[in-house]
Amino acid sequence: MLHSIFWNTLRPGSSADRPEGELAAAIDEHLGSFEAFAAQLSTATKGVQGSGWGVLAWEPLSQRLLVEQVYDHNGNVGQGSTPILVFDAWEHAYYLQYKNVRPDYVDQLWKLVNWADVTCRFDAARAAGNPILIAP
Ligand SMILES: [Fe+2]
Repeated sequence: MLHSIFWNTLRPGSSADRPEGELAAAIDEHLGSFEAFAAQLSTATKGVQGSGWGVLAWEPLSQRLLVEQVYDHNGNVGQGSTPILVFDAWEHAYYLQYKNVRPDYVDQLWKLVNWADVTCRFDAARAAGNPILIAP
């Protein structure tokens, strides 16, 4: 699932270099600012011990965005959270071009994010509502 999101999110030549509209407002409200969010997701991705992922996720119970650090493919995933944007931190994702310099690879990933795709995932996650508090 994370790889499916990853490949669809990274598209060279994306039109915008940062999110707009309600996603941008949610990032500002929940994570401080785009710059603070980018620093947090970069740090989470660069700091994975061994293999894993950096993830921006929608958490439906608190109705907010949060950054997660996932070990391997599923360890430490927030229960019920929906991945919105994921960065692959497995060595196979960057070794051919960046050798063991994962931070350089992560810094370059930001240039490839397709924010329209991320926004679609954000909108769908929010539209799903809160599965725990559904009225009878
Ligand atoms: Fe991968």
